[in-house]
Amino acid sequence: MDSSTIHVQVPGKLFVAGEYAVLERDQLAIVLAVNRYMTGTIQEASKHTISLPQLGYDEIHFEVKKGEVFFSQNEKKFPFVRNALSIFYQFLYEVGISPRPFRLTVTSELDDKTGKKFGLGSSAAIVVTVITALLNFYQCKMIRPSKELIYKLSAIIHYQTQGNGSCADIAASTYGGWLSYQMFQPDWLIGELEGGTSLNELVKMDWPSLYIKRISAPSRLSFAVGWTKTAASTAPMVSHVQKLKEEAPSLYEEFLLGSRRAVLQILDSFKRDDIDGAIEGFAENRRVLKKLSAYAKVDIETPALKKFIEIANKYGSGKSSGAGGGDCGIAFVKDRQHIDFMLKEWRDANIEPLGLQLSNYGAIPSEE
Ligand code: PMV
Ligand code: MG
Repeated sequence: MDSSTIHVQVPGKLFVAGEYAVLERDQLAIVLAVNRYMTGTIQEASKHTISLPQLGYDEIHFEVKKGEVFFSQNEKKFPFVRNALSIFYQFLYEVGISPRPFRLTVTSELDDKTGKKFGLGSSAAIVVTVITALLNFYQCKMIRPSKELIYKLSAIIHYQTQGNGSCADIAASTYGGWLSYQMFQPDWLIGELEGGTSLNELVKMDWPSLYIKRISAPSRLSFAVGWTKTAASTAPMVSHVQKLKEEAPSLYEEFLLGSRRAVLQILDSFKRDDIDGAIEGFAENRRVLKKLSAYAKVDIETPALKKFIEIANKYGSGKSSGAGGGDCGIAFVKDRQHIDFMLKEWRDANIEPLGLQLSNYGAIPSEE
């Protein structure tokens, strides 16, 4: 391809700790970026074109007039991409830069070949991919594709499209590595957007409560990921937990305190390079999630995840990752030489090891 073609690469994510609690004020989560990627390829073209071959859309055309995006076909089927384009062009209009037609192709390794979902954050990654590709394509004195700008635009898009969510997945896909994360105050963000604050102002502001920090795991701590072969849907599970918040606030509060304690223990152990402390912190987080599951009557730890964890606990400690209910489990082990035994036990229990590793760089223009 010619030199004016830009490639961007965006990693998938896994939740490590602090799930559900991270949706509340002053609650931390730990997330990490993994080495399965979404890729965007963008170059000049005669018409604005998006190609999403894996979703069955070879060419989606759109036009831009005064910062507004008009699609040539029913765009309801790809809401994250549609909203990413709408927000981006509103931003471009505010900055005073004219649209320049391009063709953007997005491909993904985050789902398997048959379209099965692993829960590696594909909806967050697609937003980050589109935004990173566009910011790099339009890069100029006024538009620098910094991580902060990528995160903030993507978080606005993701939060608005989904109507909830911590955007920890957006942070992992944008920044890469291990992160400790606290979400922005969603009411504040919505208030600013509804109150007419421009996107260009909003991305330059400090977002109340938002905290994203790179952390390092103990040098000899290894993690392994297993897929339960069932896809989970986060939204209904979060609704159940929200019901607990309304109906039994003291139980919910107990969960928040327990989750916070577990996450702080992990973070503290990471700082001290203390593997045993970290493994104990993960186990503690699993215990509080199990209680939450019982209190809220929501199936966070499915039978497959329970099996996954029982096996992982012989070698270190395991827990569900993200909302649970299927998708992946994550395990932490101290002795690398034992991992193969654990993986074999998982396979025998019909759990597929995914062979994932840490991805350090986040959303970047790629070599290719
Ligand atoms: O399963 P996932 O990757 O969708 O993770 C959801 C994690 C929650 O904390 C339950 C929700 C969120 O947006 O953080
Ligand atoms: Mg999930």
